[in-house]
Amino acid sequence: MAQGAPHDRGGESIEPVLVVIPTYNERDNLPEILRRLHEANPSVHALVVDDGSPDGTGVLADDLAVADERVHVMHRSEKAGLGAAYVAGFRWGLERDYATLVEMDADGSHAPEDLPRILDALGDADLVLGSRYVPGGSVVNWPLRRQLLSRGANLYSRIALGTHINDITAGYRAYRREVLEKLPLDEIASRGYCFQIDLAWRTVRAGFTVVEVPITFTEREIGESKMSGSIVREAMIRVGLWGLRHRLDQLRGLFSRNG
Ligand code: GDD
Ligand code: MN
Repeated sequence: MAQGAPHDRGGESIEPVLVVIPTYNERDNLPEILRRLHEANPSVHALVVDDGSPDGTGVLADDLAVADERVHVMHRSEKAGLGAAYVAGFRWGLERDYATLVEMDADGSHAPEDLPRILDALGDADLVLGSRYVPGGSVVNWPLRRQLLSRGANLYSRIALGTHINDITAGYRAYRREVLEKLPLDEIASRGYCFQIDLAWRTVRAGFTVVEVPITFTEREIGESKMSGSIVREAMIRVGLWGLRHRLDQLRGLFSRNG
């Protein structure tokens, strides 16, 4: 399951850990996800990155941060996509001393109780993906349409990019800070969910080790997914272009070796 050349980390610690939680209209989910996060992982810090949610998630997050020093909040003025929110959150974490940066949804789809297992796997990896599509992984309560979309996105990415990652769109993941320090965060143009594919692909190409650990992804019970047609279109176009560029680079390499 591991990909890329192994990196020598010389037994560096993975702590302290920052869990970045992007939110847009997650008022009714946020308190519970933070409660579960800290019950299962008392020492981690959380950064809520709110894009000016009309439902007041940002105000609520401020209240929660006052009550708990492990909770931090970043306010952004408008809904600018999951990718942009994560880039901003990662920057915030990299400016501080966090050794590990975790991505987690606010809606309960990513069980905080699985985080210790994900962090354990970081002992042998630079990026750990909480994967639905390795043995032991699963999805609960997704309509067929959404299952097909997710499977299709993974198949399309595997073919276009030639990676062996089983769940490259996974949104539950843990990065060692060295990975995010090395990747050009300024150049990440992906706004929507293709951000996940973008970063995993860049991580592999930079020679870092990616490991997938099985998780159960449970569809939210409260609120709505922000998945949309424009998010799907962005992913199809970008992944297709990355794939084309990758194949051209491969061809060029072949010609320069032979010529
Ligand atoms: N700040 C911010 N800005 N947060 C956002 C935005 C945005 O534009 N869009 C979505 N979010 C937040 C949501 O509030 C939630 O906490 C998290 O990002 C995931 O959004 P969902 O809308 O619940 O995603 P999903 O369940 O449809 O998709 C999940 O599965 C995908 C894989 O198939 C996510 O985990 C995706 O990251 C993942 O790619
Ligand atoms: Mn969700």
